[in-house]
Amino acid sequence: MKTIEVGLGDRSYNVHVGQGVRGMLAEVIPDEARRVAVITQESIPWAVDPGVEQLEVIVPPGEAAKTMATVESVCRRLAEWGCTRGDVIVAVGGGVVTDLAGFVAAVYHRGIRFVSVPTTLLAQVDAAIGGKTGVNLPEGKNLVGAFWQPSAVLCDTDTLDTLPPREFLSGTGEVAKYHFLGGGALDQLDLSDRVAACVQLKADVVAADERETGSRAVLNYGHTLAHAIEIVGGYDLRHGEAVSIGLVYAAEVARLLGRIDVQRVGEHRQVLEAYGLPSALPEALESEELLNLFAHDKKAIDGLTMVLDGPLGVETVVGIDRAVLLQAMSTVR
Ligand code: GLY
Repeated sequence: MKTIEVGLGDRSYNVHVGQGVRGMLAEVIPDEARRVAVITQESIPWAVDPGVEQLEVIVPPGEAAKTMATVESVCRRLAEWGCTRGDVIVAVGGGVVTDLAGFVAAVYHRGIRFVSVPTTLLAQVDAAIGGKTGVNLPEGKNLVGAFWQPSAVLCDTDTLDTLPPREFLSGTGEVAKYHFLGGGALDQLDLSDRVAACVQLKADVVAADERETGSRAVLNYGHTLAHAIEIVGGYDLRHGEAVSIGLVYAAEVARLLGRIDVQRVGEHRQVLEAYGLPSALPEALESEELLNLFAHDKKAIDGLTMVLDGPLGVETVVGIDRAVLLQAMSTVR
């Protein structure tokens, strides 16, 4: 088992990574907690024991759970139960559940404590770490949310054994991203150590810029095209698969801008290939349509903006020429 601290002063917390760590739940529930509300989905096969009285709240399956309507119904269920700031929310599930439950924790009674037990690779290496919580609107993903840090996170790698292969592959897309954020040869590590290394990288980024006023944006490496693919493609590709294509694309844009060389682009392709991740943009997705969405990206602060690799590492680059972005699309077809 490895323990990684997310250092945020008096809101610092530990992320425990390893086999069976969900069994630590009773230990990480704050001593003075009276009761626990476990928010989960029907399809999540993992039971937890918080060691105190618990209420189970089942939310709808899949991404459909991440709505304001679910937030209202969960909050009403908590209110009926008499949930107060003396109680604790525990999220058990993938990123959908940890995002939703974290947001409920942020707004119910103006904020109560929560603990995350992420059960997918994607949630363990990304969604459940760092305090970004929220839900979707019909107009877009994660448009309503709050920064609300958990009290602890339990990344139980046993839960990854039963993940459907495509779900696991999707999480691998986020793991691949960390190779280029200082992670190096993460594929050489066993799964628990790989998850722990990704968590450490994310914890360091979050500790340096919790509210994404600057450097935290590097965590969006590969995500500009990925978000556009998800919207135009109607979510046919999983998030991590779209991130994978977005990573190669970002590398090609960086090459066209003279920030990296062909060899570095090749390193991107090799990492994705080693994990069995896709790197080709499906023909059905039109370049112009994808590009039009870049300007709507939440990160587009100053014209066409992307997170790109370069001599100083991965950083935000603003004001990129549309022609370059279009040309790079053809290199990932
Ligand atoms: N998933 C990106 C972030 O946490 O900032």
